[in-house]
Amino acid sequence: MAGTSHKRSLRPWPRGAAAAVAAAVVVGAALVLAGCESPSILRSEGSAGNEIVTLAMWIFGILAIVLFTVWGLLVFVIVRGRRRPESEASQTKGNLKIEIVWTAIPAVIVTVLFLLTVYTTRQIEMPDPGAQFTAVGRQWWWDFQFKELGFKAPNEVYVVKGRTTSIDVESADVIHSFWVPQMGGKVDMIPGHVNHIHFVPLKDGTYLGECSEFCGVQHGRMRFLFVVVPPDEYSAWVKRQQQPAAQPSGADARAGEQVIASVGCGSCHAIRGTSLKGTFGPDLTHFGSRGGIAAYTLRNTPENLLRWLQDPQAVKPECNMPNLPLPLQQQKELVAYLEELK
Ligand code: CUA
Repeated sequence: MAGTSHKRSLRPWPRGAAAAVAAAVVVGAALVLAGCESPSILRSEGSAGNEIVTLAMWIFGILAIVLFTVWGLLVFVIVRGRRRPESEASQTKGNLKIEIVWTAIPAVIVTVLFLLTVYTTRQIEMPDPGAQFTAVGRQWWWDFQFKELGFKAPNEVYVVKGRTTSIDVESADVIHSFWVPQMGGKVDMIPGHVNHIHFVPLKDGTYLGECSEFCGVQHGRMRFLFVVVPPDEYSAWVKRQQQPAAQPSGADARAGEQVIASVGCGSCHAIRGTSLKGTFGPDLTHFGSRGGIAAYTLRNTPENLLRWLQDPQAVKPECNMPNLPLPLQQQKELVAYLEELK
């Protein structure tokens, strides 16, 4: 810009105004995003997430100031330096002072961003109590394994509010990425390698988790619930999960128990307390208590479960659940049985 210098001297750009505009944009964007129902990283309820949001706001603010300063200077130069019939711009070659200034300013900005990032990284670090469970990524669902407690909780996991949640993370097939946006941070799930993540959930509630690494055609239908509860509710959840499958009560459900044992579901699925011992698909011991089907592709209702059992490949193409040609009556019995597995 200085290369096209003109006769009148540049008046200093009102930086205060630029900062005010930048701040207004930052606050406005945050409010808009905070109001929506998506699991926005800006509505953080986790220790790491809070630090990351603070850092993001700082960086966003600094960059907004840079953006508006540059735009402002650009408009200023275009208006003030435009060609006029009576004058010719003075022809100069470089300006050492300005060269130094516009090298120094970005260097300072980058240094500040670097220091802020290092500070945030330090803030996120905390003592690790050791993993409470292992999250295994699979195409396309989540296997939360509580090995010491003796149960698996596919696609829905409870943790304690205010207590450090520590998770070992791995994959059974391709690379996935464990991410609960409102808790902050994400970590790759790599086959043959155990990664780790820990943070403190600060507010109880049900948060959406998702896969953050493209892992195949159903990457977008790989979601889970991350439920933050007080300690007593967590203990009650663990107790429920540890129990074997409930005995079916209704006639249809009892028939469904016979069907599921006879049509080969047990080669992939386990239902603790029955003959089904598969490990490839989700553990169904407490299927009826969960809110979703097929990693939250569908809500867990009898109608949706019937739809899923009739044609899983239509609901979630290329998933590992095969189409089983069963008579409608048997499908309905399966639905009755599975929904009783609270
Ligand atoms: Cu798993 Cu993307």
